[in-house]
Amino acid sequence: MRILVVGSGGREHALCWKIAVSPLVDEVFCAPGNGGIAADAVCIDIGADDITGLLRFARDNAFDLTVVGPEAPLAAGMADAFRAEGLAVFGPEKAAAMLEGSKAFAKDVMKTCGIPTADYQVFTDAQAARSFIEKAPGGVVVKADGLAAGKGVLVCATKDEAYSAVDEVMVKRAFGAAGDLVVVEELLAGEEASFIAVCDGENVLPFASSQDHKRVFDGDQGPNTGGMGAYSPAPVVDDAMTGTVIDRILQPLVWGLKKRGITYRGVIYAGLMITPEGPSVLEFNVRMGDPETQPLLMRCASDIVPVMLEVAQGGGIKNARLESSAGPSVCVVMASEGYPGPITKGRVISGIDKADAIEGVKVFHAGTRLQESSFVTAGGRVLGVTAVADDLTSAIEKAYRAASMISFAGMHFRRDIGHKALRRLS
Ligand code: AMP
Ligand code: GLY
Repeated sequence: MRILVVGSGGREHALCWKIAVSPLVDEVFCAPGNGGIAADAVCIDIGADDITGLLRFARDNAFDLTVVGPEAPLAAGMADAFRAEGLAVFGPEKAAAMLEGSKAFAKDVMKTCGIPTADYQVFTDAQAARSFIEKAPGGVVVKADGLAAGKGVLVCATKDEAYSAVDEVMVKRAFGAAGDLVVVEELLAGEEASFIAVCDGENVLPFASSQDHKRVFDGDQGPNTGGMGAYSPAPVVDDAMTGTVIDRILQPLVWGLKKRGITYRGVIYAGLMITPEGPSVLEFNVRMGDPETQPLLMRCASDIVPVMLEVAQGGGIKNARLESSAGPSVCVVMASEGYPGPITKGRVISGIDKADAIEGVKVFHAGTRLQESSFVTAGGRVLGVTAVADDLTSAIEKAYRAASMISFAGMHFRRDIGHKALRRLS
């Protein structure tokens, strides 16, 4: 079988690596891929957003399956375009991708399906948003409706912060058209977790739970990033919680979408706040998490290819399982100087081979380029150093031992990935 993976980040590297080990697979291609992905897949220089180019390439090369990593091509209708041509594609259609592409749409779906989520209101007018904030009993979160590369969410503990957030998004238009509509919602307290599952339009098949570290600095300080590290499983999501998330959130979502004429086929990601009253949805994403995918796939003992293929071909996964190793996994993201702000690229990276040689370690590349015979930095998030071990303490220790072997000018990474889980376990 020949499989095409679309995207160029750490998530796509993990997908290529996992797909390549399937006994069903002869060849993996990645468009556009990156310097490190080239070790696990044939990289093709077609952008992830070039739907016409990718469609032509997939048709000409008769791929058995195309797996779409990021949200933007899904929101732009890549899955619809492939299906219209009879090509097997793993990823939801455009109408379903609106769950991530429009926060107002996602909230409306949650409300009509009775899915627990923060109280909210949608605004097109800054003055109306300010009046709502004035009356809000506690803190609020101001969210630009559209895609803003994970940056359009402003968490505001005080009313003054909330007024500035409205100004930023609606008046100064910091996120452009993504801020045409704004969701203002109640600030929830609790512990966050990522719940990622495969869906065939009817059934929900969960991966293990995971947890991301969104803030740039230790102790969850500093601005939000795409994710500075992740671990799996998240102890806050035990078996009972898994059942609750499926029964009260994901299954109602899938059925509610069906009523709207949308068959959800692909990955659904629920960003959760585990509150004292139970899980509440902060966001839905229509793809796997980055960096959550790296520890998830590192632990995943099942072959994911049959599941993806079945869903892409319109089949069912009712009896499928995605088993995980008992040992936990931890991913430490190594980032460029300045990230999540402006960065400098082209810094030479050393030590990747040594880190990769440790048993139970895989260095996934997020933003690298191969220049002559060395890797150089080519993005904000550069590497995801991922380790699996028998227990969480060992997995953390191993990931940091591997990270300590790698260096590039200006690099930074968090030193406390997984510590929240350690605290909960103790
Ligand atoms: P989102 O992209 O909607 O998941 O928001 C990004 C981050 O903002 C989340 O991971 C949370 O840390 C935070 N966040 C979003 N909504 C809320 C909320 N209602 N209450 C508290 N924190 C939130
Ligand atoms: N790690 C957060 C996300 O993928 O959206």
